[in-house]
Amino acid sequence: MTQTISLVEVGPRDGLQNEKQTIDVATKVELIERLAAAGMKSVEGGAFVSPKWVPQMAASDEVMNTIKRAPGVSYPVLTPNRQGYEGARAAKADTVAVFGAASETFSQKNINCSIEESIERFKPVIKAAKADGVRVRGYVSCVLGCPYEGAIAPAQVLPVARTLYEMGCYEISLGDTIGVGTPRQTKALVRALAQEIPVAALAGHFHDTYGQALSNIWAGIDEGLRVFDCSVSGLGGCPYAKGASGNVASEDVVYSLERSGFETGVDLDALIDISVWISERLGRKPGSRVTLAQRTH
Ligand code: HMG
Ligand code: MG
Repeated sequence: MTQTISLVEVGPRDGLQNEKQTIDVATKVELIERLAAAGMKSVEGGAFVSPKWVPQMAASDEVMNTIKRAPGVSYPVLTPNRQGYEGARAAKADTVAVFGAASETFSQKNINCSIEESIERFKPVIKAAKADGVRVRGYVSCVLGCPYEGAIAPAQVLPVARTLYEMGCYEISLGDTIGVGTPRQTKALVRALAQEIPVAALAGHFHDTYGQALSNIWAGIDEGLRVFDCSVSGLGGCPYAKGASGNVASEDVVYSLERSGFETGVDLDALIDISVWISERLGRKPGSRVTLAQRTH
């Protein structure tokens, strides 16, 4: 029996948030719409965060108000606090994501509060979302390492992930923010978390800084993970994680999974077209090995 893997395309948010050049709303809208048309069932559309902290996401309200939504596709946006949630709600977001961290220092650098304070800020977001029928995803950053604190143990990840799950997040995305983790570490992490959180409620979010992301996805699959975040053309990086590269390239994930008998529902050729197009727009070569192999001769 063919097994299904769900992909969450995070390129328009995680991919573009770190870009220094101005990317117009029309380009972002086209990117999101094309990714949905290529078969992505979840396309992260933006972030309702402080424009002083992440200027590139400042127009997320305009982006969300402009996109034509495809049936059966969700368009999550990041909401760090109640103010972000109100913005997301006004822009008709169907899904929001709160984002915490397993590392105290990263939490301070990224969202200007401790892990404990962040949980307090998420409470009203989740409460309001529940009342509005909006789904809430939870991120935990630095699950396999922190740019400031170094190694992070599964025991540091578990309390944050479990708390977010118990608070009502339907899924906890495990972020290897700086891409330092390896397959064995990934397995150990998923195994530890799965003792207290259903594995079906966990997702993998691997950045590819050290070239480990696809291997980590396969390690996660071995442990039962069936949801992965990815970014077209491997766009991205986190502004508060120096040296972090983009997420694993969506094209590379689709190629690897589909050729191994998993169904993603994503059209690889369409994805490669999008990768070539957005790379041209950004003035760089595609960050996907599959796209480079197929299109740049
Ligand atoms: P703060 O300064 O502590 O917030 O920032 P505050 O409540 O004290 O408010 C200060 C100012 O920010 C006020 O404006 C507020 O109105 C404004 P002022 O009066 O000075 O003009 N403000 C907001 N503006 C817009 N939207 C909001 C909002 N909240 C307050 N929601 C805050 C706290 C979280 C807002 C800030 O630290 C921030 O925006 N951080 C950005 C975090 C971010 O976007 N990081 C990148 C995404 S996370 C990521 O990439 C990791 C992930 O991919 C997983 C992985 O790879 O690990 C998800
Ligand atoms: Mg990320």
